Amino acid sequence: MSENIYEIITEISKRRGFFWSSFEIYGGMAGYVTYGDYGVKLKRNIEALWREYFVRKQGFFEIDDPITNPSKIFEASGHLSNFKEYATICNQCGRGFRADHLIEEKIAQEHVEVLGVEAIKKLLVENKIKCPTCGGELKEPSLVLTMFQTQIGATGNEIGYMRPEAAQGMFLNFKRCFQANRERIPFAISQQGTVMRNEISPRRGVHRVREFTIMELELFYDPQNAVCRWLSDVENERIRVLTEEMVENQLEEPLEITVKEAIIKKVVLTEWQGYFMGLSKKFLCSLGIPSEKQRFRAHLPQERSHYSSQTFDHEVFTKSWGWIEVSGHANRTDYDLKSHMKASGVDMTVLRPDKTRYIPHVIEPSYGISRLVYVTMEYAYEQKESNNEKRNIFRFPRDLAPYQISVQPLVTKDGLPELAIELHDTLLKAGYRAIYDEGGSIGRRYARQDEVGTPIAITIDYETKDKGLVTIRDRDTWKQVQTHIHDLLDKLKLYFNGESFMDLGPIFE
Ligand code: GAP
Repeated sequence: MSENIYEIITEISKRRGFFWSSFEIYGGMAGYVTYGDYGVKLKRNIEALWREYFVRKQGFFEIDDPITNPSKIFEASGHLSNFKEYATICNQCGRGFRADHLIEEKIAQEHVEVLGVEAIKKLLVENKIKCPTCGGELKEPSLVLTMFQTQIGATGNEIGYMRPEAAQGMFLNFKRCFQANRERIPFAISQQGTVMRNEISPRRGVHRVREFTIMELELFYDPQNAVCRWLSDVENERIRVLTEEMVENQLEEPLEITVKEAIIKKVVLTEWQGYFMGLSKKFLCSLGIPSEKQRFRAHLPQERSHYSSQTFDHEVFTKSWGWIEVSGHANRTDYDLKSHMKASGVDMTVLRPDKTRYIPHVIEPSYGISRLVYVTMEYAYEQKESNNEKRNIFRFPRDLAPYQISVQPLVTKDGLPELAIELHDTLLKAGYRAIYDEGGSIGRRYARQDEVGTPIAITIDYETKDKGLVTIRDRDTWKQVQTHIHDLLDKLKLYFNGESFMDLGPIFE
């Protein structure tokens, strides 16, 4: 199963409606994904959980800034000079590819882009790499800007770019938010929104797309007083870290260390960075990713973005592709505020109690939603044998499941559908994500709900009519309990507050 789990997930996603390739009636286009109802709900639930972990609990600010920015923003931020990848074009068919990715596939080495253009040219030649589509000769690789350009307004004179990260919005609006925060520091601004990247040769479905929701947070602090007051919430979390030195020496087995030790031993250079890494580990555990399948990989200096003094990628082990990055944790120093201060002439400094002025430093955790959706699905997926049939199940954590409850009549006659529809309405009004299903046999309906990860199925049968009893079925054990319909809402509340299914009533098979 492990070899083709990506194909299995992709197939279920299309068939059931989690996500599929966009523009498909015109043949589709790589790098664009449309989320269907189940996918949107899963995505939104992950976004809401992220907000709970990273924004609400700390009382941080949120903003919503434009996607299209005038070019001066990205001139100042350094993106126009640096947001580039190595591209190579096929002489024969004219298709473009990421040169470093072609090499990585051929020689099974990761992070080839850090080697630089000369090494990449040499490796393409040495390894006799040809066009993967037509076998043609490839042109010499060159750095290509991967931001989408556009024109703002009708004259064509104002060039704009689609933001490739949400972060710049937080820097541009720092002063206003700082004032709204009554000029107190540390504080953070966060943003969830669409970003666009003109990826050269996007592959692996949702793993590399040209438009995705980013969830980003910029924490502004005084480098002379870098204390994180919530550190104790995560300081004993054990995190697995590949330090710069280990990455340099190509060691694969991470150091397992608490957040506190990582800070004391200067593996992680600031308390805020450690805090967000600890939080990130807990957040991914809540998505169903076990801690031993997570690691933080340090960037080597030559690999770091132009603004960063220390970066860790939070990686998850996938059966599909091995370790993949799901978030970046960067120390952006005062680079961005300083750059915008210089380019705009607006003072971005703040005052210390001793009346000295400084530009705040920034720690940034940044997540792309599509990879989180994918890893959540991979870790939730299980195949179960039933009556010589393979059944697909997504064991999503209860609150992340697209639908929490399905309601079905045992048969579509004798007034049972009407009772089921009434219950469905009651559950919707009570705030649950509930779905009504009356298609096919009851067994088929259970299978369908397992395949979209609905934790609880409630069946209305003749005993509901006669005695007010309903059957509740558990996705994970396939066990069932019976309860009176008057007790149902209380029981569901207990279940979605974490109570075991077995505690909902006497089990019957
Ligand atoms: N502001 C920092 C920043 O944008 P990044 O590492 O370029 O950092 C953040 O992006 C996260 O977004 C990554 O860790 C990754 O999970 C995700 N990501 C980046 N490019 C992506 C793409 N083309 N498709 C899907 N997710 C992507």
